[in-house]
Amino acid sequence: MAVPQIIEAFAHRMMYSIAKDRHTATDFDVYQGLAFAVRDRLMERWFKTQSTYYLQDAKRVYYLSLEFLMGRALLNNVLNLGAEDSYLQAMRELGFKLEDIGEQEWDAGLGNGGLGRLAACILDAAATLELPFYGYGIRYEYGIFQQRILDGQQVEYPDGWLRYGNPWEIQRPDAIFPVRFYGHTRGSFDATGRYHVDWLDTQDVWAMAYDTPVAGFRNGTVNTLRLWSAKSSREFDLAHFNSGEYVRAVEDKTHSENISKVLYPADDQSAGKELRLKQQYFFVSATLQDVVRRFKKRPSWRWEELPDKVAIQMNDTHPALVVPELMRVLLDQEGLEWDLAWSLTQQVCAYTNHTILPEAMEVWPMDLWRNLLPRHVEIVEEIDRRFRLAVRARYPFDDAKLQRLAIVDHGHSVRMANLAIVGSHSVNGVAQLHTDILKASTFAEMNELFPGRINNKTNGITPRRWLLKSNPDLAALVSEAIGDRWTKDLDALRGLEPFATDAAFQERWTRVKRRNKERLADWGRRTQEFALDPAFLFDVQVKRIHEYKRQLLNLLHVATLWNRLRDGVDGGVPRAVLIGGKAAPAYWAAKQIIHLANAMARAIGEDPAAKGRLSLAFLPNYRVSLAEVVFPATELSEQISTAGTEASGTGNMKAALNGALTIGTLDGANVEIREEVGDPNIFIFGHTAEGIVRLRDAGYKPRDWAMAHPELRRAIDTIGNLEGGRFRALAWALMDSDHYFHCADYASYLETQERVSATYQKPAEWARMSILNVAGMGKFSIDRTVSEYARDIWNAHAVPVEGPPPEPSMQPALRL
Ligand code: IMP
Repeated sequence: MAVPQIIEAFAHRMMYSIAKDRHTATDFDVYQGLAFAVRDRLMERWFKTQSTYYLQDAKRVYYLSLEFLMGRALLNNVLNLGAEDSYLQAMRELGFKLEDIGEQEWDAGLGNGGLGRLAACILDAAATLELPFYGYGIRYEYGIFQQRILDGQQVEYPDGWLRYGNPWEIQRPDAIFPVRFYGHTRGSFDATGRYHVDWLDTQDVWAMAYDTPVAGFRNGTVNTLRLWSAKSSREFDLAHFNSGEYVRAVEDKTHSENISKVLYPADDQSAGKELRLKQQYFFVSATLQDVVRRFKKRPSWRWEELPDKVAIQMNDTHPALVVPELMRVLLDQEGLEWDLAWSLTQQVCAYTNHTILPEAMEVWPMDLWRNLLPRHVEIVEEIDRRFRLAVRARYPFDDAKLQRLAIVDHGHSVRMANLAIVGSHSVNGVAQLHTDILKASTFAEMNELFPGRINNKTNGITPRRWLLKSNPDLAALVSEAIGDRWTKDLDALRGLEPFATDAAFQERWTRVKRRNKERLADWGRRTQEFALDPAFLFDVQVKRIHEYKRQLLNLLHVATLWNRLRDGVDGGVPRAVLIGGKAAPAYWAAKQIIHLANAMARAIGEDPAAKGRLSLAFLPNYRVSLAEVVFPATELSEQISTAGTEASGTGNMKAALNGALTIGTLDGANVEIREEVGDPNIFIFGHTAEGIVRLRDAGYKPRDWAMAHPELRRAIDTIGNLEGGRFRALAWALMDSDHYFHCADYASYLETQERVSATYQKPAEWARMSILNVAGMGKFSIDRTVSEYARDIWNAHAVPVEGPPPEPSMQPALRL
């Protein structure tokens, strides 16, 4: 698109949509005007893509997720249109910097962490791979909370991201479906003698669609992210209006619209609240109605074809109600027999598991279901009854096994993972180690019962957002060396290997990293949130705060370095340790860790012994847009979870793709990162997953480990004595229980950090390893991940959108 056209389109939007001129437009107005102009560019491609799917009668893939952590869209869309030079220049001619305009956009933060960001990266890959793919979720009015640090502690503020409008979404008042709750069921035999169940006297809420275009990378494909918003139902209001209770009616309206009000802010933990269950059913029911509508729009259709035309992927068990809901639709509304309905359901559905932490496994009290979803209780009980018969036939005398495998636990609760496994044809883990643990331990008995059903799909990240967009200088250097094929085929990065020992290339590589460190330091200065010296080693741990991720182990290392400096012992290379991440608002230990990090940061900052040698900073409000500044500046990536606890991790991939070296345990995808970059180019430490199991089984005594290591004991004391002993309980718990084996891994961590320090003092060596890390990242492209899902799970194929988009004058919508 030519520059004058871009200017004209932008000016048009400023005038007619934003209604501002150059005298009155704020920076945010300019962002919105440009966002509309870019969205306009996507429209015709969007129409054409969607029509192509119809005309080709393509198999559609539906990705159901309660979270989509999209971040900002403007620059990403410009990049995917392949028009960044033109937009840069157009804005420059008008006196703006494109990058500054981009900064005005509020992150779309509809997710907690890895699971939600994975959904966003998968959307990007599916569009880039030209797959007929739809994301379905909830349009929360409040996304993940804003984290501020007051007196060193996390305080949560609501994320009213829609307050000033969202130029990317399109409201679809016509795409609206009723979702039923409560009521009761009544069974009867119809004229043909067939048993039929009605769900009666329900309270209904409407789900209204909001669509966001998802552009593929320079290929003309534009897919859809469809998010549901709750609107009160007209019938619901009417009853009260008729009896004159106007205010009550409005109250009820607000009440039912609460369903899409707020994202639950707990990562890796099941909330167990009625409102959360309502959210789950709300988006599952609306989505299935839309799926069935689209399926039935085909000129001639038969239910038997459903698996040829529809694949449903559940992102964790949050959408697992799709299993009984699809059964209900097929049985009660469409009149299918159980066996056919069940077979179709299993062929259509697939489930992605994200964690083996017991507190994350969703288990719903039956009483809650019975009240809210009475018909689904009956269906799940019947699924469970039939499943038990099958298990009993296979293991006639093993009652204990039957109890463990059952979907309904002693009649009082529903195990969502078991429901999802039984109702799917595929269950996948998100890294090889994670999948191995699922097969050998967490779901071992299911694996025996359904051989081949559990499979691995190692996570990935989109190289477009996480290198091309976020690190333009490194991207340019890489493309100069090996061409830009890597943007669509990340394996091409292997071509960097010969450059790893090229001194001139190493130097340019290091200069890019230095500029990115300065950019992050500037960012900290501008926001007055933290101070960084770009000459230091940037040692970064950004992710949700959780005990299993062991930010505390990082802080024990910082305490040790600090103690050494106070003793006048060389603490190694000067380090800036950065920690960032949100804690679930009700997670006491995680919030204590944030408080501790801030307290330590202050104390170290005030200590002359640490000056010029060591700094610690807590990065407030870690989010996608901040991650895009942090990873390019990261030199050492901390991936230090207790082995066997982190399903995959994707921050590990983002850091390595930006040239960071990893210090990590053999956990999650770290294992595969090591395979790809080679053992000498990664700093692995600590017990393996099996080693941890052995330690636990042998009666792990953390106190013994701490007593055996004077520096560890002292680091625990350092933490315990900060701020008058405020963190003593946290520190001492390490000696008493240490559920995540900090003490057992400390010595190995410390030694490995010393190796890091020594390596960093050899800049050429560090640069060589950094280049080899980037060269080894091909496997971690989300394109590879999604191709595997498409081939092994969905049986879905690319449907390219042929030819250029239609000319603006053709206006397909108006031609209808
Ligand atoms: P949906 O997939 O039914 O939600 O429709 C999305 C878009 O697909 C519409 O806005 C149309 O552009 C296109 N579309 C819908 N129905 C048809 C059809 O029958 N033939 C061709 N294109 C269609």
